[in-house]
Amino acid sequence: MSKIYASMLSIGAYSPERRLTNVDLEKMVDTSDEWIVKRTGIKERRIAADDQAASDLGVLAARQAIERANLAIGDIDLIIAATLSGDFLFMPSTAAVIAGKLGAINIPAFDALAACSGFIYALATAKAYIESGMASNVLIAGAEASSRFMDYSDRSVCVLFGDGAGAAVIGATDDPSAAIIDTKIASDGTQWDNLYIDGGGKNPIREGKPYRPFIRMKGNETFKLAVRALSSDVAEILARNNLKASQIKHFIPHQANLRIIKAVSETLGLSEEQVVLTIERYGNTGAASIPMAINDLYESGKLNKGDLMLLDAFGGGLAWGSALARFGGDAGR
Ligand code: UT7
Repeated sequence: MSKIYASMLSIGAYSPERRLTNVDLEKMVDTSDEWIVKRTGIKERRIAADDQAASDLGVLAARQAIERANLAIGDIDLIIAATLSGDFLFMPSTAAVIAGKLGAINIPAFDALAACSGFIYALATAKAYIESGMASNVLIAGAEASSRFMDYSDRSVCVLFGDGAGAAVIGATDDPSAAIIDTKIASDGTQWDNLYIDGGGKNPIREGKPYRPFIRMKGNETFKLAVRALSSDVAEILARNNLKASQIKHFIPHQANLRIIKAVSETLGLSEEQVVLTIERYGNTGAASIPMAINDLYESGKLNKGDLMLLDAFGGGLAWGSALARFGGDAGR
């Protein structure tokens, strides 16, 4: 019997219509367009409509990914969602809510909780399910409505994040030239207080106590840890697969900060043409940023079947990861 590989069969995304520009933020906190662009590379981000939760964004991205894979909802046998701004506090999972809205009943659905790295954690899990024969078509979705968890008086965080969703169908193939080659995921829980959202069991919601479920981040510490972890991580995943950075067609990093992306790209010696950037238009969309960036590439007609992608992400946990994958779907138009 030939070996079963996992393959990214399709990509889809959704970005809400409402825009929040740097100029808008200048009116809300003590900041400037110049500071935000220089320190982060962000110009604007999208904000979910009042009646849209993370699952609603995820469903729109998921439907597009399933359609582009030429599959029906009934062909999906596992759904994994990645989010740091899900519809509910821990239960039900956002994956279950997405599954329900899609009409995918009676299949397993769970969240890969690894904050901004969640999409890579979901990808690694989908790959394992498919290679072990436990699933045939896995829908993975990164969906964020992080504006709901934003303290719009905290200038160090609120200028960074935006809402959006991206999804992919990971399916089985016997074609190694369309396969997800490798994934590498890691965490360091001793560093949790660099990036978190309060209100869980450690600091429970109690009557009379103000509930402030906001994203809190020690930006500068997180920045340094991200550059260090990602630079060695991407070098390691390339080395253990005997690949050189020059063989990467598209480097698709989590879009947290342009300076982090540039530092990692420079360590690898990547050219500008290899690096996919969406941060200017969407900001940091958490677990959705990588699939949204893949989708941008796909819709601009630059992603072809067999193209070698290097993905990397870093975020709360702390958790990080990278993946090497050949695109397994047909080229976008
Ligand atoms: O997706 C999850 C992973 N996230 C990340 O990896 C994000 C990592 N961190 C970052 O992207 C950057 O650290 C930030 C963009 C958040 C901040 O950039 P920085 O170069 O690390 O700045 P800093 O925190 O060291 O702050 C420098 C100065 C401070 O003022 P003083 O103390 O020097 O007077 C801040 O108060 O910039 C000030 N500052 C701002 N000024 C204008 C912080 N935020 C703002 C702001 N507008 N929005």
